[in-house]
Amino acid sequence: MSNLQDRVAVVTGGAQGIGGATARRLAADGARVLIADINPDAAQANVARIRAAGGVAEAITADMAQRPHIEAMVAKAVELWGRLDLLVNNAWGGRGGRGSALTVDEAGYDHGMNVMVKALWLATRYAAPHMEQNRSGSIVNIASVHGMLMAPEALTYETAKGAVIALTRQMACDMGPLGIRVNAICPGHIVTENMQARKWDHNPGLLPFFEQQYPVRRVGKPEDIANAARFLCSDEASFITGHTLVVDGGLTIQLQENLGLHLARFYRDHPEMDLDR
Ligand SMILES: NC(=O)c1ccc[n+]([C@@H]2O[C@H](COP(=O)([O-])OP(=O)(O)OC[C@H]3O[C@@H](n4cnc5c(N)ncnc54)[C@H](O)[C@@H]3O)[C@@H](O)[C@H]2O)c1
Repeated sequence: MSNLQDRVAVVTGGAQGIGGATARRLAADGARVLIADINPDAAQANVARIRAAGGVAEAITADMAQRPHIEAMVAKAVELWGRLDLLVNNAWGGRGGRGSALTVDEAGYDHGMNVMVKALWLATRYAAPHMEQNRSGSIVNIASVHGMLMAPEALTYETAKGAVIALTRQMACDMGPLGIRVNAICPGHIVTENMQARKWDHNPGLLPFFEQQYPVRRVGKPEDIANAARFLCSDEASFITGHTLVVDGGLTIQLQENLGLHLARFYRDHPEMDLDR
């Protein structure tokens, strides 16, 4: 019997990208998966993919910026399958919120914080009572290496992802006695369908430069994060809570001046590379 057999999971932003791969991975291990996403067509396509592989999945159109949608998402999973065990808080569409403290747009900041931080709290508030009933709960929050290392002109994203790590640790303290574990994952650069279209289709020649920044000499795939999420959801991780699992091919373990020199040498040897993104 598979490790997640009989478990019920909700994956936010589960239509595509990291969430899409995570939904498929949990379903492949036997979980019944509710995909909650603002993109109904992509969500249905992922449901069809899971069913074609023999899994069980449904979709609900839900915007993580809207509290009633989050409440309805949890209610739907319980209505469908009578319980809720796993919650992967993953959704983020990358809309708005760019800029520094001097330039960031207030509406974009609020939207980013609502989807990337507040929604994680609200989803946990609605999900936890159901998880507590079976003393079987695992919540996985998708943070980022941007929650640990800061980039310029990205106030909203960096602040939100740092907050996800703190929120995870805090909620793990409160939820542990209820039988619920809460962990975070910090992905490095993951080439999703959207990332491929947004970045790499336009400048595929830059990809080797990115890959050189990783000790494993590759960037990530959605499946790399899905595998980590599946592990944290499973009973194999039953003594792990409040943890931030960095899944970044070693990107963030490197001393920065060494990495800078390495990249300078790489660029010297490949002057044809177009570094404009
Ligand atoms: N791709 C990366 O390199 C990377 C790296 C680190 C962290 N992350 C994090 O991983 C998560 C997933 O990112 P991704 O790259 O797979 O994104 P993606 O754009 O490929 O997929 C995001 C999914 O979330 C959905 N979504 C967007 N806004 C939503 C909302 N308000 N409510 C419900 N669903 C919504 C989209 O429709 C889409 O299906 C995000 O939290 C992101 O910050 C991504």
